[in-house]
Amino acid sequence: MAAAFVYVSNAQGGGDAAAWRQRLDAALGETIDLRAWPDIGDAADVAIALAWKPPPGALARFPNLKLIVSTGMGVDHLLVDPDLPPDIPIVRVIDPGLVGQMAEYAIYWTLHHHRDMETYAAQQRQRLWHDVPFTDTATRRVGVMGLGEIGADTARKLASLGFATAGWSRSPRTIEGVDCFHGADGFDAFLRRTDILIDVVPMTPQTAGLLNARAFGLLPSGAFLINMARGGHVVDHDLIAALDSGHLSGAVLDVFHVEPLPSDHPLWTHPKIKVTPHIAGPTNPRTAAESVADNVRRLRSGQALVNRIDRKAGY
Ligand code: OXD
Repeated sequence: MAAAFVYVSNAQGGGDAAAWRQRLDAALGETIDLRAWPDIGDAADVAIALAWKPPPGALARFPNLKLIVSTGMGVDHLLVDPDLPPDIPIVRVIDPGLVGQMAEYAIYWTLHHHRDMETYAAQQRQRLWHDVPFTDTATRRVGVMGLGEIGADTARKLASLGFATAGWSRSPRTIEGVDCFHGADGFDAFLRRTDILIDVVPMTPQTAGLLNARAFGLLPSGAFLINMARGGHVVDHDLIAALDSGHLSGAVLDVFHVEPLPSDHPLWTHPKIKVTPHIAGPTNPRTAAESVADNVRRLRSGQALVNRIDRKAGY
């Protein structure tokens, strides 16, 4: 019976095969046979695939596959594959380490912007001793778009720092200390009250291009964007126009339509944009292995899987 694991990854960020092997051995209490793409041996041996941005068609190579595990919390990287085996369950890791790192990234840039660090860096270059008018944290309105595991953790942590924090999700959510908006109706009101917009919604057909000229226009003047979700949410041209007009004061982008961001792309050099190479929340096998092991045990004992993906919904 097929029992081997394969780790199929075409990109940075999903953890490396040796770390997955070590952590899964420890979590499952056995020595697993984990093969790292492209050295897959006999593809018929493989029952469980761990995948992060796999090359299209790769997962169709395993005739006895029983489970696909996304080693990223997003699954759009899997669902774009036209040859993705149609009937194999897909689960995603729930990685508390990744969730915490995403929140760190959002908090870091929120504070950087909130405390005017760009202005002070520019002033230092000119040896200028001058204070920028102070903004009370309680009046800085932060808005987290997407209230899944990552968004809820980020929103809670920002609220605990004293920011006026709101969140937006497709369906209603309640989070203590966070003003929750939902659905298409709630989206505009959420944007109108948001000075620092943090994007963590999943990539689905409904969220593609959601951050466009209209959405930017609804944000208050001087608003700031942190996108650590997916580049496909942003209409780049509209973002650049909103920054150039002065309506938006800046943007931090960790994700892009095309990754790596092509070297001639205008986002690299825009003076109001900070670019990071999709590093906001790398998966950490140390903290993620238990979530994978839980589903492996469930699969083996015929129990219902957890954190299963709804392919139609896209997350
Ligand atoms: C993820 C990511 O989906 O890092 O986990 O983008």
